[in-house]
Amino acid sequence: MPPEARDSILTGADLAPVDTVRDPRNLFWRKNLANYLVTGAAGFIGRSIASALLAKGETVRGIDSFITGKRANLIGLEGMEFIEGDLADPAACARACAGIEIIFHEAALASVPRSVADPVATNVNCVDATLNLLVAARAAGVRRVIYAGSSSAYGDTPTLPKHEGMIPNPISPYAVAKLAGEHYLRAFTRVYGLETVVLRYFNVFGPYQDPTSHYSGVLAVFCRRMLAGEQPTIFGDGEQSRDFTYIDNVVHANLLAAAAPAEKVSGQMINTATGSRITLNETFRVLRELTGYEGEPAYATGRAGDIRDSLADIRLAGELLGYRPVVDFREGLGRTVAWYKQGEQG
Ligand SMILES: NC(=O)c1ccc[n+]([C@@H]2O[C@H](COP(=O)([O-])OP(=O)(O)OC[C@H]3O[C@@H](n4cnc5c(N)ncnc54)[C@H](O)[C@@H]3O)[C@@H](O)[C@H]2O)c1
Repeated sequence: MPPEARDSILTGADLAPVDTVRDPRNLFWRKNLANYLVTGAAGFIGRSIASALLAKGETVRGIDSFITGKRANLIGLEGMEFIEGDLADPAACARACAGIEIIFHEAALASVPRSVADPVATNVNCVDATLNLLVAARAAGVRRVIYAGSSSAYGDTPTLPKHEGMIPNPISPYAVAKLAGEHYLRAFTRVYGLETVVLRYFNVFGPYQDPTSHYSGVLAVFCRRMLAGEQPTIFGDGEQSRDFTYIDNVVHANLLAAAAPAEKVSGQMINTATGSRITLNETFRVLRELTGYEGEPAYATGRAGDIRDSLADIRLAGELLGYRPVVDFREGLGRTVAWYKQGEQG
């Protein structure tokens, strides 16, 4: 490996951003264009996709603004070229897309309560960011964009399971913003011929999910609190249910979506989940076994914008992608608790 190549790869000790445009070290990546761009690469799902791509020996570039992502999440991704940048900035999008063939677009402000508190910030980081990325992708000749959609698009319709033919019914600013992104992708396929695939994720959990913010996903928060011997709070009566999806299933679906023939998947929106659901009360009981926590949960008033039940119909993912879940809920939760436990021990 030439010295300039070694220099352009981050090491665990040096996670400072590399400005790929002005930095002379960019000679390396100009010669060896990255095939894959992962947006939100310092976040939970983005770093997991990037890690899987690197493990397959792929050339990967990541971009993140660190608005919620963490530099520590880049540890272990030393083979990835990284750009610190904000997708709300068209110039950053252009830099990120140069020479890329396939984009996994994971960046977003991924929280319903945060969108209720600040809908404008959610719009900027979800809608503006997605549109800027699509414009840059098209200009750079990117072939395919795979988008992290959200089951929140289905809203509070009583029909279960949720299937892709249902009319969207978003009830939070976050859900509206994520859905707007989906529509932009479809429009770019129809108008400009860009290949796009929307994967609608249902409550993803697993290692690297941030448990520290009050906007964090419920399982991450429960794991952290219960491992620390602290009482978790259930918003509502705990009988609300979710199709909790372990991260490996989501990564698997993304890799399938990247490899699938365009005539099968381009312009499609596909549920990405397990096809089974569990209530928060049941989840609490499983976690009690796994963590050794001995108390009861606290209950508080339900939160605005939250939906009651969520369950995916995953038949389309099977038909179009050959997808089926690779890790079930209990196994995934066990791995997740083990990961948080390791973190707590240092
Ligand atoms: N986690 C889930 O349960 C879930 C469910 C449905 C959909 N999704 C979607 O999956 C994607 C990933 O979610 P996550 O759970 O990994 O969230 P996350 O917050 O861990 O990761 C999102 C990343 O995007 C980055 N980001 C946000 N705005 C940016 C911008 N303007 N420019 C550059 N980077 C930016 C953040 O800093 C963060 O690192 C999101 O699009 C989210 O809407 C997640």
